[in-house]
Amino acid sequence: MPVPRPPYRVAIIGTGGIAHAHAEALTQLSARAQLVAVADVDHTRAAEFAGRFSVPHVFGDPKDLLESQELDLVHICTPPQTHAPLACLAMRAGVTALVEKPTALSLRQLDELTAVQEQTGSRVLTVFQHRYGAAAVRLRRLVEAGALGRPLVATCETLWYRSDDYFEVPWRGRWDVEGGGPTMGHGIHQFDLMLSVLGPWSLITALADRRARSTDTEDVSVAAVRFGSGVLATVVNSLVSPRETSRLRFDFEYATVDLEHLYGYREEHWRFTPAPGHEGLAALWAGGDEPDVTSGHRLQIEAVFDAWDTGEEPGVSLLEARRTLEFAAATYASAFRGVPIAAGELTDDDPFTLSMDGGAVPWQRVKEALV
Ligand SMILES: NC(=O)c1ccc[n+]([C@@H]2O[C@H](COP(=O)([O-])OP(=O)(O)OC[C@H]3O[C@@H](n4cnc5c(N)ncnc54)[C@H](O)[C@@H]3O)[C@@H](O)[C@H]2O)c1
Repeated sequence: MPVPRPPYRVAIIGTGGIAHAHAEALTQLSARAQLVAVADVDHTRAAEFAGRFSVPHVFGDPKDLLESQELDLVHICTPPQTHAPLACLAMRAGVTALVEKPTALSLRQLDELTAVQEQTGSRVLTVFQHRYGAAAVRLRRLVEAGALGRPLVATCETLWYRSDDYFEVPWRGRWDVEGGGPTMGHGIHQFDLMLSVLGPWSLITALADRRARSTDTEDVSVAAVRFGSGVLATVVNSLVSPRETSRLRFDFEYATVDLEHLYGYREEHWRFTPAPGHEGLAALWAGGDEPDVTSGHRLQIEAVFDAWDTGEEPGVSLLEARRTLEFAAATYASAFRGVPIAAGELTDDDPFTLSMDGGAVPWQRVKEALV
């Protein structure tokens, strides 16, 4: 597929909550890209959205949008169960799809996207915007250069609170629509960022439960993880934690790097603590050019355009998104089977490759037995 040329022609499918963050980011990037069309099955919502962001073309059916517009990029901002079918439509129309997380509901669906990507030459990218904050980019660079010594131990916590009202939206809290609870839908940002820093994981031992909400999915999961490099980590994903926080901490041989924020970070949310005898390393952690910029959609979309401008592959690629989705699948498989799961162990026909619940959710089985 030819590399797109600026100004990039962009569309958005799904004009609900998160689409506003995408459109606002595109407004900030209007010198490089034009938002030319939007589609939503709720045509009235799409028309209002188009009015707010001065978008010339409005559609009710994403297919009509993709068939009638010349596009470089389509942002898919619809509920999770529609991501894979819409991304396939986009690729078959020759358009790169930037898909909101989670990329797909299962590893099987993600592998189907990879097959279509290979057939069409078009790409699917996943929104994991927290990879693109300046401090995360700097941390990965320092780790790759070996400047902080070996990574030893990490903690990754997404402790959020969602009341019963939040789950009244029909697609929330359901395996068949969301693919999972806080593991797939909320904590995925934090452990994706952790994986982007620490590289391939090798073994997961996990628990998941429904502690307080009457959802189909879990509302809490916890995992102990070993990485290929030997790093040991713990991961907690919760939607029942009244004092909300998002925390990540990496202990390297020569420094601790930690982050505490909520839904997006700036430079001030990171701390760098050199180990005794390594105080000189603090100079490497000098802040980025834009200390007040929050890790958000603009930075990732800008990185896509930067990559195209220089002929590079933009992120986050399906290959990397698969590693993150496999982490979620292994968390569920370990929790519901009660055994550790190794990377690569979930083969093509494993129930946890076919769906995140693996047909083995303990509270689902109790419910079925009572009916
Ligand atoms: N990256 C982030 O930080 C972040 C934050 C919030 C939500 N999200 C993700 O964004 C996605 C959307 O979440 P939301 O909160 O904006 O949902 P939402 O319900 O507010 O909006 C979804 C919109 O998609 C439309 N829609 C549904 N099916 C469609 C289809 N087949 N074709 C066209 N339009 C369709 C709906 O009518 C609705 O307007 C989810 O995957 C969610 O996980 C990501």
